[in-house]
Amino acid sequence: MRGLETLNHTTSEEEAKLQYEYMEKAKAYVAAKAKEKGRPLTFCVNTFGCQMNARDSEKLVGILETIGYTEAEDEHADFVIYNTCTVRENANNKVYGRLGYLSNYKKKNPDMVIALCGCMMQEPTVVEKIRKSYRFVNLVFGTHNIYKFAELVCRCLESDSQIIDVWKDTDKIVEDLPVKRKFSFKSGVNIMFGCNNFCSYCIVPYVRGRERSREPKDIIREIEGLVQDGVCEVMLLGQNVNSYGKNLENPVTFAQLLREVNKIEGLKRIRFMTSHPKDLSDELIEAMKDCDKVCGHLHLPLQSGSSRILKKMNRHYDKEQYLTLVDKIRKAIPDIALTTDIIVGFPGETEEDFEETMDVVKRVQYDSAFTFIYSKRTGTPAATMEDQIPEEVIKDRFDRLLKEVQDISSHKSQLLEGKTVPVLAEEVNEHDSSLITGRLENNSVVHFPGTEDMIGNIYQVTLEECKGFYYLGKVADHA
Ligand code: 5AD
Ligand code: SF4
Repeated sequence: MRGLETLNHTTSEEEAKLQYEYMEKAKAYVAAKAKEKGRPLTFCVNTFGCQMNARDSEKLVGILETIGYTEAEDEHADFVIYNTCTVRENANNKVYGRLGYLSNYKKKNPDMVIALCGCMMQEPTVVEKIRKSYRFVNLVFGTHNIYKFAELVCRCLESDSQIIDVWKDTDKIVEDLPVKRKFSFKSGVNIMFGCNNFCSYCIVPYVRGRERSREPKDIIREIEGLVQDGVCEVMLLGQNVNSYGKNLENPVTFAQLLREVNKIEGLKRIRFMTSHPKDLSDELIEAMKDCDKVCGHLHLPLQSGSSRILKKMNRHYDKEQYLTLVDKIRKAIPDIALTTDIIVGFPGETEEDFEETMDVVKRVQYDSAFTFIYSKRTGTPAATMEDQIPEEVIKDRFDRLLKEVQDISSHKSQLLEGKTVPVLAEEVNEHDSSLITGRLENNSVVHFPGTEDMIGNIYQVTLEECKGFYYLGKVADHA
């Protein structure tokens, strides 16, 4: 792995310029190869994991299209890249499984380029395994040098040997490289990278590095550009958005940023992810309440309801503090939708600890919850803790939790039946073109009669029928 010192001798602007030069160079290689083959070259980007990775993949697609590749329908393509996740062990296993298939595709198309990037590649043991046992992989890079993708593609097209370029860290944020959005009307926007929290189960701080915030002016400029390009909803992305701006030369709080983003004309909705409960300030609650574009939805990971386990997880809040925070938020914003993440089977979790989690779930009544089985990540403090929980005990707890979460979630969906709520018209329905598909502030989907010209506007829609995970509705009047 490379260290920092040798790498950051260019400024962010110079780096972007350099990468555009590499794009030109790669474009010539791709055009020559396409001519030789008598057909356009194709690519496939396969994304694992979270919203951050989804956004990173849009950057990969932006560069691949700029240099002349066209998107393939599946992995039978000339350039296949996996943007990997490593938050849980099964994410790694999926990648190794898929690589087996890819090696067969490559036998039929020896010019095929196979690339791997993302969080999993930041783990030295993974890179070693690929170096030894997956020689057919052409390119491996990590999370810190993704902005060098054009340069790496060039190197790859010039060489037959396996290229591995993984950095330990970076302090650089390179702006203004090409991005190809998956959705025309909505977009993720990175506001910060990395995490400083070191929750004891979590590998993210090791693979994404320390917290770095983007300058507010760069964020605002990006969003203004997106709005001009037809985007009406943004999701501000960071591992812990509540600590946004602390390391900037002129520190800014997340609440202040939210108020600035809220002023952007033409933007209709603002979402954000993820909020750590320990850093959720009164200032942020005020800002959420005041800013009309900020959706009435908060994702507030609980992880465990047991104060004892929360301490072992290094979460810096206990059960009572979490519940008090929820009360405070609900008092300020009564209709807010709350969602969460919960881990079952953390080392040392007893039946009593688990009951505490169930108790919080019942009391908070989450609109939805992501439930995870604890996964031991080598290198994290929790991996060496005693008293890892047997699989069958975890499975039983997980099933009980899932049932509770699902029952509450479907009850909460039912409660909205008959209500009239603001809905952003997003797309013409895939199956019935007389319907428009839109989203509520809580992210649920509703289908309602409408026409294409409604897309991008917010309507008051009456939710006539709850169909479990979605609604059928009708426009009440224009908001
Ligand atoms: N095992 C299980 N779940 C985990 N998460 C993070 N690390 C682990 C782990 N080792 C979950 C947390 C986090 C979400 C993104 O993934 O709940 O909020
Ligand atoms: Fe992982 Fe905790 Fe950072 Fe979230 S806040 S990315 S769970 S270490």
